[in-house]
Amino acid sequence: MGMITLKIPADKSISHRAVLLNLCAEGKKAVIKNFLFSEDTLKTVDFAKNIGAKISIDRTRKKLILEKNSLKNPLKEIYCGNSGTTARLAIALLAGAGLRGEFTGDKSLSKRPMKRITEMLNKMNGFVFDNKGKLPVFVAESRLSSIKYFSELGSAQQKTAFLIASLFTSGKSEYVYKYPSRNHTETMLEYMGVKLDIVEPYNEYGGMVTILDKKNFQMKDFTVPGDFSSAAFFIVLGLLGKNKKSLRLKKINLNPTRTGLIETLKKMGADIKIENKKTDFEPYGDIIVNHSKLNGIEVNDKKIIPSMIDEIPILAVACAFAGSESLISGINELKFKESDRLQKICDILDFLGTDYQCGEDFIKIFPQNKSKRTKKNKINTEGDHRIIMSAVIASVLKNRSLKLDNISDINVSFPDFFEKLKESEYEFKYRN
Ligand code: S3P
Repeated sequence: MGMITLKIPADKSISHRAVLLNLCAEGKKAVIKNFLFSEDTLKTVDFAKNIGAKISIDRTRKKLILEKNSLKNPLKEIYCGNSGTTARLAIALLAGAGLRGEFTGDKSLSKRPMKRITEMLNKMNGFVFDNKGKLPVFVAESRLSSIKYFSELGSAQQKTAFLIASLFTSGKSEYVYKYPSRNHTETMLEYMGVKLDIVEPYNEYGGMVTILDKKNFQMKDFTVPGDFSSAAFFIVLGLLGKNKKSLRLKKINLNPTRTGLIETLKKMGADIKIENKKTDFEPYGDIIVNHSKLNGIEVNDKKIIPSMIDEIPILAVACAFAGSESLISGINELKFKESDRLQKICDILDFLGTDYQCGEDFIKIFPQNKSKRTKKNKINTEGDHRIIMSAVIASVLKNRSLKLDNISDINVSFPDFFEKLKESEYEFKYRN
């Protein structure tokens, strides 16, 4: 049957952070290899230029060179496009650095909650003004103080915003979180010389991160590993695709706070192996996916959801092809992503003709009813990149054509998605 090897693009979360954390550190220059050049990460690059950094880009070598002296007030409004990570992290950076500026975004981003950032920064004595909890956000010159912050969320963006803002304060900064979330910021800060103390769990909370010492915080070069969230589409395709070919996904980031999908799929019966595992600032390796028959799954542990928060739509697609029913709960946060992803998962299941029940923060998915006919052949994705790609994989697995709006919005995270689909020897039948 053979094996196909795919090179998946670089990690989006780490690419954003490699620029933003280097902007905060001591030093003049850092080289970021295998940087992700996508619409989202380029918004972070624009922000860096806007506050005075010099960025040289070598797209063919996927290399970015960041040079900086002192950070300056932005020359113009900071337009973040679709990128929640740029907006939330850059707001914290601007406030921490004591600069002023205005943040805006596209239609989707303008609907997403910013209060989780602005309120926290104002507790640190910031002067950060939102528009009824949303963009536009205006940051006025602030002088932030160190605090101990208790968060009810399991949000890596909020935790990162706190840590970035705290890099500019003197005194002890502590962030207590209800649920653990991806920890790239912590691993990267430690790699850059910041001493952290991480306690998990912390009393009745999921954990706490404390900045102990930042006097050796220096700019660092990074080589960005492949993005697990982008690999996820091809993991599900390799498991369930009709051509039954195995896939090798090369050099993918294997940070355990990101790979909850592998654990979940394995419990469903997936044959997934890791080879060539190495460790740089984080673990990475090849993911080998062999065609498998899946059973349904119950995911009701709120701690595991953040480790696969961006993979729930593609997990739902996998559940639709499983032999028994699945229940995924604790997923209310999906409503606040690039689109209302809970609603959009239902749209994909309608297209597949899958029976399901959807509540405020759960979805129950029943096995495929082969005799059921469905007329739905169009999904309004609201330009949500991960919904577009999940819908494409659903259409390929079902072997049924599908009409989608705004296909080019995959450029937010995975510009060569359709090339990789072709390399996997599948074709998407687009319905006109
Ligand atoms: C991200 C954290 C997650 C994730 C997003 C990227 C990050 O968001 O959904 O795509 O890079 O920190 P939340 O922190 O809002 O859960």
